[in-house]
Amino acid sequence: MVGHAGRSREYDGVPHGGYYTQEEVKDIVKYAADRFITVVPEIEMPGHATAALAAYPYLGCTGGPYEVGTTFGVMREVYCAGNDSVYAFLENVLDEVLPLFPSKYIHIGGDECPKDRWKTCPKCQGRMKALGLKDEHELQSYFINRMEKYLNSKGRSIIGWDEILEGGLAPNATVMSWRGEAGGIEAAKQKHDVIMTPNTYLYLDYYQGNPAAEPLNIGGYLPLKTVYGYEPLPKDLTPEEQKHIIGIQGNIWTEYIKDGQFADYMTYPRALAVAEIAWSPAGKKNYDAFLAALPAQLARLDKQGVNFRIPEPLGLENGVTDKPEATVTLHPMVAGAKLLYSIDGSEPSIPYTGAVKIPLADKESKTLKVTTVTATGRKSAAYTATFLRRAYQPALTVTPGAKGVKRELFNTRVRKAADLNNKTADSVAAVPTFDIRPFSAKDVYGVTFSGLFNAETDALYEFKTSSDDGSLLYIDDELIVDNDGEHGTIEKAGLVPLKKGYHKIKVQFFNAGGAQQLIVTAGVKGKQSINLRNVLFMAQ
Ligand code: ACM
Ligand code: ZN
Repeated sequence: MVGHAGRSREYDGVPHGGYYTQEEVKDIVKYAADRFITVVPEIEMPGHATAALAAYPYLGCTGGPYEVGTTFGVMREVYCAGNDSVYAFLENVLDEVLPLFPSKYIHIGGDECPKDRWKTCPKCQGRMKALGLKDEHELQSYFINRMEKYLNSKGRSIIGWDEILEGGLAPNATVMSWRGEAGGIEAAKQKHDVIMTPNTYLYLDYYQGNPAAEPLNIGGYLPLKTVYGYEPLPKDLTPEEQKHIIGIQGNIWTEYIKDGQFADYMTYPRALAVAEIAWSPAGKKNYDAFLAALPAQLARLDKQGVNFRIPEPLGLENGVTDKPEATVTLHPMVAGAKLLYSIDGSEPSIPYTGAVKIPLADKESKTLKVTTVTATGRKSAAYTATFLRRAYQPALTVTPGAKGVKRELFNTRVRKAADLNNKTADSVAAVPTFDIRPFSAKDVYGVTFSGLFNAETDALYEFKTSSDDGSLLYIDDELIVDNDGEHGTIEKAGLVPLKKGYHKIKVQFFNAGGAQQLIVTAGVKGKQSINLRNVLFMAQ
């Protein structure tokens, strides 16, 4: 697949496939064992099994035919839970797997199994009736219980994703909590062992820098500091229950990771944080100390040829100043590395030798671009920080209302969003978000949305509008993004430094007929931006 599965159906035409022979598997398991590492296989069931169904259609509820997936995600076709041949097949698979992997644990998956087919399958429904199961979740539980019994009889224990809680946990199962921490907390309360791997902290396939500047990946945003900030022992558990949290796992799913170099890039340096949060008690963790040790660690990885993501240099932070010059001091995050920079938007080429001085006219912004070059000659992407000369906007002293915005609608033909300022609204309503979907693209109208934006920290914020036709975005009554005029989709951005707290936000938009679009995003400049749908509050 070329591009992101959520946005693309383009293919490069190169077949994807492959397998390990049993000898190769044994070689990997031994290589790991020689280094005191146990490889635990995950044999996925009852979902994520399209390849098996394509090869053996009798294993599915409908009998197929099935095709091997050509996109990523959750598949509706799953193993039939009412067909004894499925269990015999999986036992045969496990009989081949077990001699290859001497691990105590065998992971049986259990995640992301849609129940659509089971709901209409006579065999599945017959099994539920015969066993008195009240819904398809209990059927899934039956499936997992049955496989657990088989593996227990072979002296092995199962691990399953937190979906195996649904319909009742198998008696001896260890739970991997991936959809946040809730499943792990629930399992520990039921006195089951838990491995924490919440996607909110430990999915190392998620972006680790501004997604706009990183190689394409599945999504998410988990910079090093967020991963380091994870505390695996939930406060909601008693010390006795916490003993059931037996460890953590960093997950790297490789839909978008096509080789070992890219896997290294996603793994390091975040794996160093994973190690520390797994093995250091909460009271001993200290991010500053971790960062201080990082340059030496990364210099070692550099020598070993590990393709880690070179972190942003220390000190490369956005700046807001009322002075005619900003001064920036930088330190590379890899020991022995050198820095190159520019302040005119060009590729960084000036060797950094000491504090960089950035002259700024009133209201002017400039971007500092910096590349790190390691001792072995590896070069980081150009990372940026933006400097703006102006005062911070103070936060309002207001109590926000419910989520949502005030919408004023004008059933009038205007040529600019600014023209709405001299008109009287035809209707006023409280609505959940700036949403123009209630209107047809053919409608001729104007609309003003107003509410409150919550700035989570003192920071330089960037607001963007992508609109067809024109739009204007104001923060605290000051025009920040001028995207006005009669036009097709255009994206425009504007900067404003905001103090932590609530700020007035107003968006004016008009549609002159034809196509229509209004997307508004915001974020700290250079960090992940978010769509402002559902995060705005009513002014009170
Ligand atoms: C998972 O990410 N589906 C466990
Ligand atoms: Zn079935």
